[in-house]
Amino acid sequence: MPLLEVDNVVVQFGGVTAVNEACFAVEAGRVTGLIGPNGAGKTTCFNVISGLQRPTRGAVHFDGRKVTSVPVHRRSKRGMGRTFQRLEAFGSLSVRDNVRVATDIHRGVLGAVRGLGTSSRGEVDALLGRVGIAEYADERADSIPTGTARLLELARCLAGDPKLLLLDEPSSGLDETETDGFGDLLRDLAAEGRAILMVEHDMDLVMGVCDEIHVLDFGSVIASGRPAEIRRDPAVQKAYLGYAPDEDVEPVGGASSAPGAVDETRTDLPAVSDETTVLPAVPATGGAR
Ligand SMILES: Nc1ncnc2c1ncn2[C@@H]1O[C@H](COP(=O)(O)OP(=O)(O)O)[C@@H](O)[C@H]1O
Ligand SMILES: [Mg+2]
Repeated sequence: MPLLEVDNVVVQFGGVTAVNEACFAVEAGRVTGLIGPNGAGKTTCFNVISGLQRPTRGAVHFDGRKVTSVPVHRRSKRGMGRTFQRLEAFGSLSVRDNVRVATDIHRGVLGAVRGLGTSSRGEVDALLGRVGIAEYADERADSIPTGTARLLELARCLAGDPKLLLLDEPSSGLDETETDGFGDLLRDLAAEGRAILMVEHDMDLVMGVCDEIHVLDFGSVIASGRPAEIRRDPAVQKAYLGYAPDEDVEPVGGASSAPGAVDETRTDLPAVSDETTVLPAVPATGGAR
């Protein structure tokens, strides 16, 4: 049985359907990607999974139990950890103390009752080393580069020893070397038996580290599969490029627009540079973006 199941989830904001009968699963020991154009409903899905957003319909199952109405802090106690697109560290505290606070909070009342005391400097530093930011331990959290702050978020999340890690755009702000190291770390965390669900725009990272990918478009899951299957899926190519490359499409807006040509031009797609895209490049005459 999958660790996490999103079962027919619908989220409506007034007239906007942000998530539309989404169904997908996340397995322990695997890295799963959740991708899709801007506005596809990825963050809203994360909010439903972590408990920040009550779905209009549908259910979330985690670790064998239905958690649809379980509050955020109890999902976290059951083993859900999450990082945010916006960074959340305490700016005036050192990097080390930020992780210490997270470990202490996780240990909480139960830790005190069991006489575990507060977290030791050794275990906090081990977490910093694990994510590769040990050298920043004594710096104030508001003085470190964005990429380092993202890794600090991950260390704080790991302090809770989560079964499921929900990562929202974890690689933004990381340089190429840091991103490679981050991909290796994700593989290690999965090899320990954790489940990782990641929203990410860096297609090299997604295609390189994910075991499985779910693609959202306009709130619906339009494809699920291994990276190679996703890469050649016509519906996915259409969602990202505006049309599937083997479709017979005239330039959008051109005088010769043929019947059947795809006319919806998506202007809100994530920037996918030539370096990062692994989907087929847009033909020079396409002009659909
Ligand atoms: N709190 C909200 N109120 C109204 N509309 C929202 C809210 N949050 C998200 N939306 C809308 O829901 C859709 C999905 O948004 P989001 O989940 O943020 O997409 P993504 O993370 O894939 O970019 C968008 O059309 C967005 O404008
Ligand atoms: Mg988002």
